[in-house]
Amino acid sequence: MTLTTFDAHPRSSLVVALDFDSLSSAVKFAKQIADLVGMFKIGNQLFTAAGPAAVKEIAALGAGVFLDLKYHDIPNTVAGAVLSAASMPGVQLLNVHALGGKAMMEAAAQAISAGVPMGADRPRLLAVTILTSMNQKAMKEAGIGGAPKMRVVKLAQLAKKAGVDGVVASIQEAKAIRKACGPDFLIATPGVRPKDSAVEPKSDDQARKATPTEAIRAGADFLLVGRPILAALDPRAAAQSIVDEIAAAK
Ligand code: C5P
Repeated sequence: MTLTTFDAHPRSSLVVALDFDSLSSAVKFAKQIADLVGMFKIGNQLFTAAGPAAVKEIAALGAGVFLDLKYHDIPNTVAGAVLSAASMPGVQLLNVHALGGKAMMEAAAQAISAGVPMGADRPRLLAVTILTSMNQKAMKEAGIGGAPKMRVVKLAQLAKKAGVDGVVASIQEAKAIRKACGPDFLIATPGVRPKDSAVEPKSDDQARKATPTEAIRAGADFLLVGRPILAALDPRAAAQSIVDEIAAAK
């Protein structure tokens, strides 16, 4: 079984989040920038509204797809979901919650290979460690002890042990994860904000942000970017300038 490999072009590191509530608006937007990005991220909002047709139509534009559905259920159910997701066209990345435990992640890692036709590349599997929206207080309320960074690194190590290919994590945690999990472990980081970002500071809910340069230097393999491109007056120019920044930082 071969792994999906990502070409060396800096655009491969740019993953644009299609946070839309209808497939027609997502496709209309994605068409404008499909040649400039490595992947489009289809999350729970778009997938719940449009289902597998969203993956099919977006994949047909030529970029890869990160199916960001963050599975978290009993191992058997997650394995079934991963099997279906891995057989969808163009899916290069998909993910589960690390808090589902080691057996759940192992089931997902096994299923991701089984769902792909013989000889084809399999997608890579990522784990979400602790949601970046949770601080130490929110974690404690939910019964998760310890400092967030320590917990995130431990969950990343558990994911690696279970056969998961990488994690989604904040830029601030990327360095510690890279050190603990080695050079081949994939790290995808949200909260990317170029210096001239189109996102209004007062409407920005990302507590932990960094520029594309800082994200790449911290060890990120993929930058998950939404509003800096979605809300830009010129989305092509915004995407191109992030790709240029990635190229310069690598
Ligand atoms: O608009 P913005 O650039 O903040 O979008 C970042 C994308 O990354 C969104 O789709 C968001 O759901 C996603 N994401 C995140 N934090 C995580 C995981 C995913 O912001 N921990």
